[in-house]
Amino acid sequence: MKTVFSGIQPSGTVTLGNYLGAMKHFVDLQEDYHSYFCIVDQHAITQPQERLKLRDNIRSLAALYVAVGLDPKKAVLFIQSEVPAHAQLGWMMQCVSYIGELERMTQFKDKSSGKEAVSASLLTYPPLMAADILLYGTDIVPVGEDQKQHLELTRNLAERFNNKYNAIFTIPEVQIPKEGARIMSLQEPSKKMSKSSPNPKSYISILDEPNTIRKKIKSAVTDTEGTVRFDKEQKPGVSNLLTIYSACSGESIATIEERYNGKGYGDFKAELAEVIVHTLSPIQERYNELIQSPELDHILDDGAERANKQAVRMLHKAERAMGLGRRTR
Ligand code: TYM
Repeated sequence: MKTVFSGIQPSGTVTLGNYLGAMKHFVDLQEDYHSYFCIVDQHAITQPQERLKLRDNIRSLAALYVAVGLDPKKAVLFIQSEVPAHAQLGWMMQCVSYIGELERMTQFKDKSSGKEAVSASLLTYPPLMAADILLYGTDIVPVGEDQKQHLELTRNLAERFNNKYNAIFTIPEVQIPKEGARIMSLQEPSKKMSKSSPNPKSYISILDEPNTIRKKIKSAVTDTEGTVRFDKEQKPGVSNLLTIYSACSGESIATIEERYNGKGYGDFKAELAEVIVHTLSPIQERYNELIQSPELDHILDDGAERANKQAVRMLHKAERAMGLGRRTR
């Protein structure tokens, strides 16, 4: 059986973008793969986090993993910092990375541009991400469009390590969904929807109340043309809403365009809000049952134990390949 790995940063409340671009697909994959889904808290601290908020976000993300339909019997759900091999292999992957290639990462450029104090970890983030993936012999990594470049680097680093030391790493394939891979901001549709945005109107949180969702969709930026039609260049706002509608309802964009033919944005937005509410309500119900439950701690304890077992094996192989310590077998 092949292996799937993916991770989400607990750096804010998970958005509809994270759900449609990533989490939703995790649920399908767990049926056919050895599955590891990680709460990457060590990635989150590459940018300043408030300690108590981070702790809440970690727990919240764990509850959401289960609430969206991940089954702890099928998938290993765990917290990155509870599996030390990630940071250990992360260091080793930094040693095979070049500064130049890390500086070329768009995410690094975006997050560091215009800032005076940029942490070194923002630059060395991708080798840690490579370690996350390579520790489990991962075959596929389901992510949204924005992580594609990091995945290409992961493949390069794995190949470089395999050629230089020993061919121990599986070269992972990226899996980007056909639809929903890049959900845009509701306020500035040229930017991606992001959980770290300072403007809550720009994103829908997976935990937003129905009325908040209705208000946010109502105030989403559109255009003055007044026709519901998909045209990313000319109509980025409406096209983004169509993408969300289609990804939530499972209907094709053409079917939705046809339904709103001759109708204005008002009807379209009102019904889209209901489609989103309908998608998120069952997740929110399950989330509320789980968030304070000891069940969640059991799931995470068990996940950390299973992940550790697997990760340590690969870490030792990598240490042997590089000649670290005294391990000969
Ligand atoms: P993160 O936490 O920013 O996002 C989690 C997942 O959500 C996807 N995503 C989106 N998809 C569609 N539209 C959007 N607007 C949108 N915003 C985010 C992301 O592509 C991602 O799949 N570096 C990663 C976390 C990570 C990871 C890993 C992922 C660390 N180690 C190993 C895979 C494998 C990140 O910051 O994702």
